[in-house]
Amino acid sequence: MSSYHQPVMAKTCIDLLQLQAGGIYVDATLGGAGHALAMYQAQPKIRLYAFDQDEEAIAEAGQRLAGYDPVLIQANFRDLRTSLAYNKVKGIDGILFDLGVSSHQIDDAERGFSFDKDAALDMRMDRGQELSAGQIVNEFPLGELKRIFKEYGEENASGRIARAIENARASRAITTTKELATIIESVAGVGSKESLKTKVRIFQALRIRVNDELGALSSALVDAINLLNPGGRIVVMSYHSLEDRIVKNTFKLEATDCICPPAIINCICEHHSKLKIITKRPLTPDAEEISSNVRSRSAKLRVAEKKKGEQ
Ligand SMILES: C[S@@+](CC[C@H](N)C(=O)[O-])C[C@H]1O[C@@H](n2cnc3c(N)ncnc32)[C@H](O)[C@@H]1O
Repeated sequence: MSSYHQPVMAKTCIDLLQLQAGGIYVDATLGGAGHALAMYQAQPKIRLYAFDQDEEAIAEAGQRLAGYDPVLIQANFRDLRTSLAYNKVKGIDGILFDLGVSSHQIDDAERGFSFDKDAALDMRMDRGQELSAGQIVNEFPLGELKRIFKEYGEENASGRIARAIENARASRAITTTKELATIIESVAGVGSKESLKTKVRIFQALRIRVNDELGALSSALVDAINLLNPGGRIVVMSYHSLEDRIVKNTFKLEATDCICPPAIINCICEHHSKLKIITKRPLTPDAEEISSNVRSRSAKLRVAEKKKGEQ
């Protein structure tokens, strides 16, 4: 299995995509190409458009997929619609989102995603973008830091941690993951399980904000659903509740006809359902997969299908 990234629930994802020979598919989060390779192995006669905003992932996956003929696109999946239009793709037969960061990105100390490894506070998936975790920690106002930690980390001590950051940066810039971890420990304590969880939540919150992960997901899901051909499927794997909620609510909305407030008796919204939800509840990895790949433990997989007669 790849040391770059071990694909999660690969067989389930591929089975649920129902790949057809001659079909057009999108891997929105190519990473180490584990899922992409499994797609080709299941059905070699597909046309695959594969996105990743990380140029390293695109380069690595390009090598892994040598022998196949994917169109590799280094872009944010929030640009799905325009990037596919540029490639003259009008409709797709299936799309996979495997959200978040790859093991390679987490394990590469230089990228600054992990508090276990001392590195510059970076956390950008796309290293061409300007905003980094360092900028947020050193330049964002106190109230904004507190909001980020509360909203994206669901951290109870958000205010106290934001204030500890404000105090520390008043004397000198906070430049490394270790410095930030130490500041968090000054509030949450050292060595306890709860302190570890607090660091996880604060680092997650910063990562989400640096990469605008929730904003990109919300807009890409809508575009992906619109792009799907009738019978085409959207398969999304998320790794925390904020992402899963967006996926669940978007699928629910797009599987609903009228969305007028209950007080309106005669529909004025003209909304109609485009989707059939395939997974009433999210699917999760089995115990065997979790024991062989601990990073799969939080995965939640949701699938929906474009209704016939919809485009
Ligand atoms: C969990 S990994 C995908 C692993 C992949 N399925 C595999 O089997 O190797 C997620 C990947 O998606 C990329 N990514 C995350 N958000 C993205 C976005 N908004 N646009 C494009 N790529 C994104 C990350 O850079 C990362 O390489």
